Amino acid sequence: MPSRPARYAVIGNPIAHSRSPEIHALFAAQTGEAIEYGRLLAPPDGFVAAVDAFRADGGAGLNVTLPFKPEAFALARRHTPRALAAGAVNTLAFDGDDVLGDNTDGPGLVADIERRIGMALGGARVLLLGAGGAARGVVLPLLEAGVERLALANRTGSRALALRDELAARLGPAHAARLSAGDLGSAGAGFDLVINATAAGLSDAAPALPSEAWRGPRLAIDMVYGARPTAFMRAALEAGCPRVEDGLGMLVGQAAESFALWRGRRPDAAPVLAELRARLAAAA
Ligand code: ATR
Repeated sequence: MPSRPARYAVIGNPIAHSRSPEIHALFAAQTGEAIEYGRLLAPPDGFVAAVDAFRADGGAGLNVTLPFKPEAFALARRHTPRALAAGAVNTLAFDGDDVLGDNTDGPGLVADIERRIGMALGGARVLLLGAGGAARGVVLPLLEAGVERLALANRTGSRALALRDELAARLGPAHAARLSAGDLGSAGAGFDLVINATAAGLSDAAPALPSEAWRGPRLAIDMVYGARPTAFMRAALEAGCPRVEDGLGMLVGQAAESFALWRGRRPDAAPVLAELRARLAAAA
């Protein structure tokens, strides 16, 4: 009898909107890996119970989305360095009693920028907007990719400063020397790349950046995605930025990293991103 395929799922609340099952089904078809990948809706106070039930039923791994990434961090017995820096886990891998927690959001973003978009991060000067979980999750992977300067700018400047201080203490002097922080108004100038990790897009708004910050960047990338350009992408184009991208590539990139962790082989993100983009456009 053929053995049952390895089982994975994405867990969150809400979860019906998640595109992860589509993405992993496309990866499975591409690589020939026999997996099942579903959706798990956990009640707000029922994350651990839902994970336990999934594991007891033979589940091999989970992707974790809002609002459970910090709880997944607490649940993991071991963490990758990037999950430790993020303070959040988006990928769990189960092996007997072992529970490994990883965070593939940052590597997904780095892979999208370097491999698909084709911008080298080594030596780049990057302005990162936001100081919440989305921003925190990508700091170490950006530093490890070799950015020369990483400026955190947030609407509430004190939050960016606190995040910088915390990460600087955790990551050590070599990384800390390249990190700065402040409010949006004092973001400065001389950047190659601007990344939007704020939640402003949820209300169709863009963070208010001074015009000098837009003198120089060759690329603006929003972590949010949709069928149409986001408010941040529109603002970047209006300010003269020559190239804008949304977060769909990062989404597929983080999924590819999770798949690689679980299955030991890295799928090709490009055709999956193209397929997803076409589906988004067709549904609009
Ligand atoms: P997440 O985990 O998605 O990062 P979060 O912790 O709630 O969510 O953080 C949301 C981020 O978006 C914060 O950096 C927030 O700025 P404040 O710290 O000043 O609240 C930012 N944000 C939300 N709405 C914004 C807006 N309209 N303009 C600029 N920044 C905004």
